[in-house]
Amino acid sequence: MHVTKRVEFCAAHRYYHAEWTAEENRRRFGKAVGLHGHNYQLEVTVEGVPDPDTGMVMDLKALKDLITDAVLNDLDHRNLNEDVPDLNGQIPTPENLAVCIWERLTPRLVDCRLARVRLTEEAGYSVEFYGEYRP
Ligand code: NI
Repeated sequence: MHVTKRVEFCAAHRYYHAEWTAEENRRRFGKAVGLHGHNYQLEVTVEGVPDPDTGMVMDLKALKDLITDAVLNDLDHRNLNEDVPDLNGQIPTPENLAVCIWERLTPRLVDCRLARVRLTEEAGYSVEFYGEYRP
C-alpha cells in the first residue's frame, strides 16, 4: 500500500553551467540563468504493509517529522546553488532535486520503503522519481 505526504517549501536557484560561457548559458537556460525563487510542492510516497496494531503503513507525524528533518530544514528558504552541499556542482533542476531528496530520505525509513518522490516546481510542471536512476 502507498501512503503520500505532501509538503511545501520555498527556495531560490539559478541555472548555470560553470564550464559554459555566459552566452551559452543564456542560450540554453534563458531567464533561468538569473537567481529566482519557486514555491515547491513535494510529495513523498512510502510503500509498506499496514501494521496490524496501528492500521498504518507509517505514522504520518513520523513521516512529516522525517521530511522536515531530512529535507525541509536544509532546503526551505535556501539558495539551492550554494546552501545544499549534496547539490554542489549540479544544476538545481527539479530532476536533480528529486534525486537529492530521495537520497536524503531513503536511508532513514525503517519499516517501509520509499516508493516515489514527486516535486512540483510550478503549476503544470513536476517530476517524479522512483529511485531507479543513478547519475
Ligand atoms: Ni527556476
